[in-house]
Amino acid sequence: MITIVVGTNRKNSRTREVAQYYQNLLRQEKVESQILDLSELPDDFTTSALYENTGKNPVFNALRTTVERADQYVFIVPEYNGSFPGVLKAFLDGLSYPSKLMHKQAALVGLSDGIQGGALALSHLNDIFSYLGLNVLAQRVKIPLMKKNFQDGKVTDDFINQLLREQAGLLARSRLFV
Ligand SMILES: Cc1cc2nc3c(=O)[nH]c(=O)nc-3n(C[C@H](O)[C@H](O)[C@H](O)COP(=O)(O)O)c2cc1C
Repeated sequence: MITIVVGTNRKNSRTREVAQYYQNLLRQEKVESQILDLSELPDDFTTSALYENTGKNPVFNALRTTVERADQYVFIVPEYNGSFPGVLKAFLDGLSYPSKLMHKQAALVGLSDGIQGGALALSHLNDIFSYLGLNVLAQRVKIPLMKKNFQDGKVTDDFINQLLREQAGLLARSRLFV
């Protein structure tokens, strides 16, 4: 199962809308997926589910199990202050060690209101995934200027759409090998 991770816990985020759009692209590739939205994380998870509290928060445990059982991921990542959201790093810090993400596969999509499209955010995240042994597809897609390029739940720019379709296709065709 491909798990699409909404990389922020902001309620009603644009990132969530992009995740739904991506899920449709995967459907067109005849691949089922599930969305894991970090807004489902318990508000107190950094004090109730990490470190000495590992395993003690059932809601967090369920989200962790969902992520760790998947074999392919799409991380939809908004740019927050020139990087990826801190809540995503806190979530990754709460996953099992040694990492159950090792030798699995991920596609990355960055979003921003500015012109970077989360380029730096994706690079920062890529460093962490490289450390964890999670294989990231070389084709990382960036959606800059979100207010112009993403309207009414759809990517409006043809070239970005083409890149997204190519990436979703690569992920779908890799399914046999992960
Ligand atoms: C806390 C915070 C920090 C942000 N920092 C940046 C930034 O550094 N550069 C940028 O272009 N957009 C920034 N944005 C805008 C988001 O990247 C943008 O709205 C994105 O399309 C979707 O964010 P959302 O999922 O929170 O709706 C920021 C938004 C928030 C909430």
